Amino acid sequence: MRQALAEPHAITVTPQPSGFGAEVRGLDLSRPLPDEALAEVKAAWARHAVLAFPDQPLSLEALEAFTQAIGPFGHDPFIAPMPGHPNVLELRREADEKATNFGAGWHSDWSFQAEPPAATLLRSQVVPPVGGDTLFADCAAAYEALTPAFQALLAPLKAVHSASLAYGTKGVFARETEKRTMKIIVSPEADKTQAHPLVRTHPITGRKALYVSPVYTRGIEGMTHAESAAILKFLYEHMTQDQFVYRHKWRPGMLLMWDNRCTVHFAEGGYDGHLRVMHRTTVAGERPV
Ligand code: SIN
Repeated sequence: MRQALAEPHAITVTPQPSGFGAEVRGLDLSRPLPDEALAEVKAAWARHAVLAFPDQPLSLEALEAFTQAIGPFGHDPFIAPMPGHPNVLELRREADEKATNFGAGWHSDWSFQAEPPAATLLRSQVVPPVGGDTLFADCAAAYEALTPAFQALLAPLKAVHSASLAYGTKGVFARETEKRTMKIIVSPEADKTQAHPLVRTHPITGRKALYVSPVYTRGIEGMTHAESAAILKFLYEHMTQDQFVYRHKWRPGMLLMWDNRCTVHFAEGGYDGHLRVMHRTTVAGERPV
């Protein structure tokens, strides 16, 4: 079988200036990766959290195969998968859609699950000529920038996560009146809650990271709404400051792989009148600690 790397050490990893995010070249992800190349990709992913692989016009089958090389598929609730591809979501917004674009709020994917996905992979199929960037915030760097006193305050806290604001029976999608191409499944299941450490430790790097988001975090265990809202508001403003944010600009046939354990992301709009089509998979993760 032909493999993805013709010669050893052909991979180049070019970090973004802050070190958060990197671009990876020298691989053909449409073929199986040799073990050493896969190890290099995983090491770069642990180090930079958001990896962009330009010029990878992968078929859905190749996207599935590369995802499974990283790890087993995660479970994607509340969105109908692509026909014949139960682990691939199509994030599609037609040129005439007026509904808010999918993912337009800071979040870490499916953080309301007991074992949220470690990775999300997103491959661009159709990229609009304007807008449609994806923003990522470095939640490890944001944590490390807090004072030791504030870190100590956060250390014992557990945040309560739920999908209710988005996918619940009274959530944003349930109340939507505009046409949406993506098939969203509103469900009472979305109102379930799941507590996770507010600061989680990355299983590979050992770095601590803030693990909260305005889309899925509903409060802090043992605190009043006012108390937790004040802390969370501060954290959201803190972690999404420019110094912690990488803005990803898409080109067609690009694959992005991010680490949900130490980042949050935000899908920017600004492309009304243009089609945008992306294909997304997730890799299963572990219970946050
Ligand atoms: C998401 O997975 O939240 C969507 C990201 C994007 O479409 O840019």
